[in-house]
Amino acid sequence: FTSALLVILQWACVKYHTVVPLGAAQPSHTCNDWTDMKIALLGHGTVGQGVDRIIANRVRGVEVARILELPERLTDPRMTSRFEDIVEDPEIELVVECMGGLEPARSFIVDALGAGKSVVTSNKAVVAAHFEEFAACAQSTGASLLIEATCGGGIPWIASIEKVRRIDEVTSFSGIMNGTTNFIIDAMVRQGTDFDEALKRAQEQGFAERDPSADIDGIDVKNKTLIAACVAFGCACTSEFPVTGLRTITKADIDLFAAHGRTVKLLGRGVLRDGRYAVAVEPVALSSDTLEAHVPSNFNLVSLVGTTVGELKFYGQGAGMLPTGNAIVQDVIDYCEGRRPHYDFSADLSYDASLLRADYVLRTRATVEGARPFGPAAVVVRDVTAEEARRLLERACEEDAASFMAALPKEA
Ligand code: HSE
Repeated sequence: FTSALLVILQWACVKYHTVVPLGAAQPSHTCNDWTDMKIALLGHGTVGQGVDRIIANRVRGVEVARILELPERLTDPRMTSRFEDIVEDPEIELVVECMGGLEPARSFIVDALGAGKSVVTSNKAVVAAHFEEFAACAQSTGASLLIEATCGGGIPWIASIEKVRRIDEVTSFSGIMNGTTNFIIDAMVRQGTDFDEALKRAQEQGFAERDPSADIDGIDVKNKTLIAACVAFGCACTSEFPVTGLRTITKADIDLFAAHGRTVKLLGRGVLRDGRYAVAVEPVALSSDTLEAHVPSNFNLVSLVGTTVGELKFYGQGAGMLPTGNAIVQDVIDYCEGRRPHYDFSADLSYDASLLRADYVLRTRATVEGARPFGPAAVVVRDVTAEEARRLLERACEEDAASFMAALPKEA
């Protein structure tokens, strides 16, 4: 009876996108080497509260001693609105930044690292924009920068890339890295929900960005792809690569691809070959037989290919209070146990757009040069790079702003 109940509970959690409440479990993780580690949280929103709860309920030896919050939100004796109270406190060894946004997050991270305090962050926007600067800052003072929670929520993705690179070259990676857009597509496919309604539900459930344009225009996936590419390829990757979101996808687009045995997913991808690399973010119409095509709700699925390990795939909750909080707390524990990640940006790689080529379908009322019909309302262009396809879409949007484009990979 108990196991039947457990199965029903797990099913209900997936179906209703909830996480089992933490309750007041006994702290379970303890290690005498790092008792009394005092840390500070910058921000006590969704992710910050998740970190606070997980540490209080499940981790021994770590104390959230201070929390930076806005003056009007000081509801806890640990809270302060003065960053100096944290950065100048010699008892605080590590700072968790989960405020989001570029400023003041960037300044706080630089100041904390500069003061020799290690930083754990879930802020993909600020890491994507300042990764090298932060890594250099950390190196100069001997502090550490840990970024697991920036990509893929609770999935151990960055740590896995680092581990694979101890032996292998990562020759490609690819993934569904945004829960909001996966949730939207899944609701459109399985429940016939329209785009705006599905987005509204994602916002209500708290995993969409404050400004959901970052989700639906592919910017959130761009940041995660850029971070993953830097770690996977060991270079300071360019931020100038093609990014297309799926703001304009319609039920008719979904039906068109379904009629061809395909499901659209928003993917971030990177390829490395012979000292050259390419990255892109775009909707991809995958064969409905692939694992990716079956990823439900707000889940993520990220994959990589390593020289000797071959293909690895990681599936899990890519967003939310507890999964993202979990990734942060894992970083905190790793730090306590002595892990000091070193980011290497030294690989001398050149960007080569020709490494990412595919056929592309455009649903548009505009005329697309060199295209052939693909159903009554769409066309297909054969064997173009992601950059060329992006330019075709931009031109089409000048005439028809509601145009939609998806890659049609041959291997799918
Ligand atoms: N808005 C993001 C998502 C949050 O939907 O995946 C996690 O990075």
